[in-house]
Amino acid sequence: MTAQIALITGANKGLGFETARILGREGMTVLVGARSADLGEKAAATLAEEGLDARFVHLDVTDAASVEAAAKRIEAEHGRLDVLVNNAGITPTDASDPASSPPPSSVSPDLVRMALETNVVGVVAVTNAMLPLLRRSPAGRIVNVSSNLGSLTTDPSTPPRPNLLPYNTSKTALNALTVAYAGELAGTPVKVNSVAPGFCATDLNGHTGTRTPAQGAAVIAGAAVLGDDGPTGAFISEDGPVPW
Ligand SMILES: NC(=O)c1ccc[n+]([C@@H]2O[C@H](COP(=O)([O-])OP(=O)(O)OC[C@H]3O[C@@H](n4cnc5c(N)ncnc54)[C@H](OP(=O)(O)O)[C@@H]3O)[C@@H](O)[C@H]2O)c1
Repeated sequence: MTAQIALITGANKGLGFETARILGREGMTVLVGARSADLGEKAAATLAEEGLDARFVHLDVTDAASVEAAAKRIEAEHGRLDVLVNNAGITPTDASDPASSPPPSSVSPDLVRMALETNVVGVVAVTNAMLPLLRRSPAGRIVNVSSNLGSLTTDPSTPPRPNLLPYNTSKTALNALTVAYAGELAGTPVKVNSVAPGFCATDLNGHTGTRTPAQGAAVIAGAAVLGDDGPTGAFISEDGPVPW
């Protein structure tokens, strides 16, 4: 039995790096996706020094040629993919300081475009390129790294969420992708889920998060190793399902 193959986008740091570490410790071959060759090589080398089978794969989710080249390389070297973690993400405003984010009425459309390009369009590009490889897996898993901020719930018991229009909207749209792909892949072994890792200290939020990256990554990795009886088309956090 060969090792499972997992591709994590944006794995050179933060939650993606910690997810690669956890999946590597599970015995998977982890493909460390990164848009910077320098940072990606360094991250893969760090994991390899820990004894994990980690390899850098150049992947800028907003660059079609890079996505296509990554899929071709994975096909040539591994012939299939078992896990895809769509982790790469940005916030085009300073998420460490929600007050610095313009209210919806004065947000620049360019900021919305930026968030959607990476957090949504990039996920479609990578998912569509990798799906033929995931369909060759006996138990393909796609994990879309979403956020509680993407939830549209108005339940008053839910903690208040900062009103970051570009970012929050992109994560809501990412959740829509999860439902759409899970619908298409129903009846196949491929499961597709969104996860909310919780507010973790990373560069994304100027390290203001209250959880460690490892805690957030554990939620992501959990959805990557779901058994055949696990959910698909769900939105999951450490505390269970998240309201859409
Ligand atoms: N931290 C949290 O509290 C939190 C909570 C909920 C959800 N999330 C989500 O978790 C994911 C990871 O975020 P993080 O907190 O770990 O942030 P992070 O430390 O800033 O890491 C983001 C990663 O995405 C990569 N990336 C950005 N644009 C990319 C592109 N076009 N192509 C490839 N990679 C790209 C970055 O690469 P570079 O190093 O080259 O910039 C970096 O590796 C994001 O989707 C984020 O929305 C985070």
